[in-house]
Amino acid sequence: VKRIRTHHLRDMKERGERWTMLTTYDMYTAEVFDEAGLEVLLVGDSASNNVLGNETSLPVTVDELIPLTRAVARSARRALVLGDLPFGSYQASPEQAYLTAVRFMKEGGAHAVKLEGGAEMAATIEKLTLGGIPVCAHIGFTPQSEHTLGGYRVQGRGDAAERILQDAHAVADAGAFAVVMEMVPGDVAAQVTKELAIPTVGIGAGPECDAQVLVWQDAFGLRTGRMPRFVKQFADVRSVLAEGARAYVDEVRGGTFPGPEHTF
Ligand code: KIV
Ligand code: NA
Repeated sequence: VKRIRTHHLRDMKERGERWTMLTTYDMYTAEVFDEAGLEVLLVGDSASNNVLGNETSLPVTVDELIPLTRAVARSARRALVLGDLPFGSYQASPEQAYLTAVRFMKEGGAHAVKLEGGAEMAATIEKLTLGGIPVCAHIGFTPQSEHTLGGYRVQGRGDAAERILQDAHAVADAGAFAVVMEMVPGDVAAQVTKELAIPTVGIGAGPECDAQVLVWQDAFGLRTGRMPRFVKQFADVRSVLAEGARAYVDEVRGGTFPGPEHTF
């Protein structure tokens, strides 16, 4: 199998073919998603609140994300593995960003990195790209900035649409190979998608983006509770696991497992 590279994603946009991204944080989900044909596996900083037990993405560190990235990179044969730079590991300067991104590539085995921000990240995107590190930008609602953005809310409504367009063009001009748009009105995302040569990746950005991303625990029903409107549940992993766990408990308690066939 041939590894997906950033130019393949751009070729797909040019051919009008949609491509897919899911978050992935470990070996077996990487195998399954890779074999299912996902083009990009994102080791999201959302591991913070989907794997490590935190309430938000803010606390997760580079040292915590790198082992997860390595697990995914070792297990995916075809997909492009995208490391997500966590809060505080790149915003201070392009140099800080470069050193952090290099760790994701050398220690984590990532093929590219993602970072949050628009025009204000242009110099950083340029430095990384020129230094051999493909960058996926992330604009619209950017969870690492929830405290300056005033909580989880749609970005780019009304007059604010202009800002989304400016950010999209700024990251594309700086050399980003793709741009995630999170919680942006569908018509704004459609306009960005039309204007940019690089692929757009939607999450809560309507049906007109070139690609789509979701957090896998949301998409496949492992997480419980209130879901954002942009989530669709494609499977019920939580029920499958709960059923298996209950059956195991019942059989061990009842003395039917282990049986003679499991005994040496
Ligand atoms: O960390 C993450 O899961 C993300 C995607 C939702 C885009 O950044
Ligand atoms: Na993220």
